[in-house]
Formats: sequence, C-alpha cells, structure tokens
Amino acid sequence: PLAPPKDLFAPQRQSSQGLNLSDLELLRQWQADLAKHGDKTWRAAPLVDGQICSGETFTVYSPFDRTTMVGQVSRSSPQTVEQALQQATHAFTAWRLCPVQTRAAYLNQAADLLEQQRLELAGLCIREAGRTFADALAEIREAVDLCRYYAAGAVELFGRPQALPGPTGEENKLYQYGRGVFVCISPWNFPLAIFIGQIAAALAAGNTVIAKPALQTSLTGMACVRLLHQAGIPGDVLHFLPGEGAILGKQLLSDQRVAGVAFTGSGATARGINLQLARRDGAIATLIAETGGQNAMLADSSAHAEQLVMDVLKSAFNSAGQRCSACRVLFLPEETADIVIERLIGAMQWLRLGSPLDLSTDVGPVIDQTALAKLHTHIAYLKQHAKLLYQLPMPAGLEKGWYFPPTLAEIAELSLLKQEVFGPILHIVRYAGSDLSGPIEAINASAYGLTLGLHSRIETTLQSARQQARIGNVYCNRNMIGAVVGSQPFGGMGLSGTGPKAGGPNYLLRFAVEQTVTNNL
Ligand code: SER
Repeated sequence: PLAPPKDLFAPQRQSSQGLNLSDLELLRQWQADLAKHGDKTWRAAPLVDGQICSGETFTVYSPFDRTTMVGQVSRSSPQTVEQALQQATHAFTAWRLCPVQTRAAYLNQAADLLEQQRLELAGLCIREAGRTFADALAEIREAVDLCRYYAAGAVELFGRPQALPGPTGEENKLYQYGRGVFVCISPWNFPLAIFIGQIAAALAAGNTVIAKPALQTSLTGMACVRLLHQAGIPGDVLHFLPGEGAILGKQLLSDQRVAGVAFTGSGATARGINLQLARRDGAIATLIAETGGQNAMLADSSAHAEQLVMDVLKSAFNSAGQRCSACRVLFLPEETADIVIERLIGAMQWLRLGSPLDLSTDVGPVIDQTALAKLHTHIAYLKQHAKLLYQLPMPAGLEKGWYFPPTLAEIAELSLLKQEVFGPILHIVRYAGSDLSGPIEAINASAYGLTLGLHSRIETTLQSARQQARIGNVYCNRNMIGAVVGSQPFGGMGLSGTGPKAGGPNYLLRFAVEQTVTNNL
C-alpha cells in the first residue's frame, strides 16, 4: 500500500497574505471606496441552476444603524427548494466523476477571486454583519485559506486510489467519491469563512451543494455563491437557498435525496437536525455539526499578568464576543485574582465600542435585536446570581445600533452558566490553591468541549491540564481565538460538535464515501 504522505497538504499550502493595516494610504483608499459604495443596495435571492428565483422579500438593515438599508432578500419557496433538490441530485452523477484536479482548480480560482474582491466583500460583511474591518479581512483570508487547503487536500486524498495488498493475481484499490447532495447550513457570525469553508469542502470531495445561509447574512452568502460560480463551479452543482432555517429545514432535511449536512450553529438546532434526519426513511445521512462552547481561560499564579490580560481581552471581546471560540469564563487563583481583575478592568476601559465604519473600533455591534435582548436578560440574571465588576460606559451616538458594552462579572462557579452567552460578557471564577484539576473537572462537567486557554509558566501544569481537558482546541500562553487553517484544525467535542475539524486533514474524509474495487487480473 502507498504510505500516507508525511506532511499532508503541506507542499501546496500557502496562507493568504492579507493586507498591511499600517499602510495608511491603503486604509484611506478603502474608506473612500466604502463611502462611495456605502449606499449600494445588495440583493439576495434563491439561485437554482444559476438562475435567480423569485420569492417573498424582506429588507436587511445594518446592525450598527437600523435605519440604513443594506439590501433585500427573497426567501426560497417550497417549489424552489424542490427544484434545487432535483437539480443537485441530477448534477451529482457527473460531478462525482469530474476529475478532482478540476474541482480543485475551481476552488483555487475562487480563492484568487476572493483576494481580488476582498475590499468590496469586506465592505458588505461590515455593513450586513457589523464585523470590524480587521475581522472582515481576517475572515476573507480564512475563506481563501480554506478554499486552497481543501483543494490541495482533495487532490492529495482523492487524486488516485489507494493501492491495497492482496494475493498474487488480485488487485485491490480503495476509491473515494462524494456522498451526494450536501446541505450546508452556516451561521451569521462568520458569514464568509464558515459559509465558504463548508461549501468548498463538500464540493472538493465531489458532492453537489445546497447552501442555506443564516437569514441575517444572506447578502454576503449570495455574493460568495456568485463568486464561486464565477470561479467555474457549475450552476447545477451549487445552489443557494436563503430563508428561515426552520421552514427550509423541514423540507430539506426530511428529503431522502439529501446525503449529508454540514452545520455550524447552536447545539439545540444541531440536535433538531439530527432528529429530522433520523426520522427519514432510506439511507442514514451524515451530519457534521460544529456547535457552541462554554469556553474558559485558566490561569495559575505563575501566569504573566500583562500577557494574560491582553490575551483575555482579545479572546473575550474581539468580534463583540460573537465567536464560538470566544472566552466566556476566566478561572483565576485566589492568590492573584485581585491584581489580574484590576488590570483587566484597567485594560477594558481602553476598548472602543463603536461603529465598524470607524477603523479604531475594537468592539462593534451584536448581530440583531434578539441577540441584544438575550444579553440584557443574562445581565438581569447576573444581577441576581453574580457580582457585576465592570461595564464599559456606552458612548454617545450609538442609539441606532445593536450595541452591548463589554462587561465583566464574577460568578461563584461555572455551573451557574446554564448555556452559552453569545456576546461580550466575561465571567470570572476564583479557585483555591494551585491545582488546575478542579477547574478542569468543572469545565469537563459542562460537557462543552470547544476551546480552552491555559496560562502558566510551568510546563508540567500545562501538560496535565491539557491531558485532562476534553476540549477540541487548547491554546497555551496565548489568546484562544482565530484558528489558522491547516495549523489549528478547528472543532470541538461533546456538546460542541461531532468533528471532524474544519481546516484539518481529516475533514474532507467525512464528506466522502469509499469504494473498494477488487480485480482478478
Ligand atoms: N474558527 C473561529 C476561531 O477560531 C471560530 O469560529 O475563532
């Protein structure tokens, strides 16, 4: 048998360059462009076989200014969903046999187009999702990396059959093919990177795709699908269905033509999808789910306080805390807790809450009114069960947006947090002594297992903590967000997801089926 490559995907891997954000001329140019195109009205509608379909329409407003229209979205009708299922099923016959090199070439072309169109796409992402400029650019880089990584990976894994042993006169080969129609359901918090990443993986492995964007970020989704078609992905291979998840899900997930689902979002929705798929007759569908976390940063008394504070600040408040990887809880030893909290509050005072159109903004708005209301409900809960330590004063002039100020609270124990709080709220838990096993036990008991930060200057402490923790991504002595494709394959365990990890060497395999061919020579 062929030995697996030693350094899977490495020869082809090249991370996207991004932009030099200290280049003031470039930033001025970008701001001028954004102002020029700022009133452009975007449009999203179902795209089936490359054709726009009509549907009941709603208007999208910006999270940082609910009086500013960003665009209009048409919902997918049941007839459109049926057409997409028919077309995707029909196109699969040819697409599964399309040479993997061709599929990879389309994805590499998409990566190039993403880089060429990044300023326009960043502008849309900022206006529709309220992402900061740095976040939007980072997301485009991640999308570029995911396209190139899966393209290279598909060629590596599926480019030729694996030769297997057998007696003389018998040839055994293992082939990989796409599973069929994959439904990709993505979240609003990474409307570009996760949206494109799921689609790219499914296509690279030889599946046809029906992409269902988050309702809040349908415009960005539409722009991405247009770009993928422009890159060469045939219209009948990739379809786009905007609309309410619960309504579209009912029709799509009960349909036997769907072979697999890639989902990123809440655990409750993932369980609902699993149930719906299980109730269908016919073949059992594959579900790849990446869900939430109750992520903690854990420091011992040897931790470097300043570095800890900077890493916590970034992990908890970057992207307004709207990352599934974000730090929600900081465990501090009694011995150093007061000094770290004092410095953390000092650093939080320097955070700038404001419009993402302002390049100096650190924390932008949350996605919508529902998200904001949930955060206020949580604060009411904390007032009963915790001590509020600090809340950044709300600057004037933000009344039109869905803003929530970075907040710090102290709770007695992790179990007081019943579910993921998706926003810029950080909870402190103190622990006694120097042994991290108590906090790790509490984290494991939450059954979430996405990200964990460890801050200690004692190597054996780091080692035993990471071994004990049932967590998918462990970051030592640094921040705990922004997983890099191919370097930090991303995804959790337990309540945080099914795996395999996005941006990792095993992801594509879950999108494929295997065929063994034995030939009597
Ligand atoms: N992959 C993102 C991160 O690492 C979260 O979805 O922050």
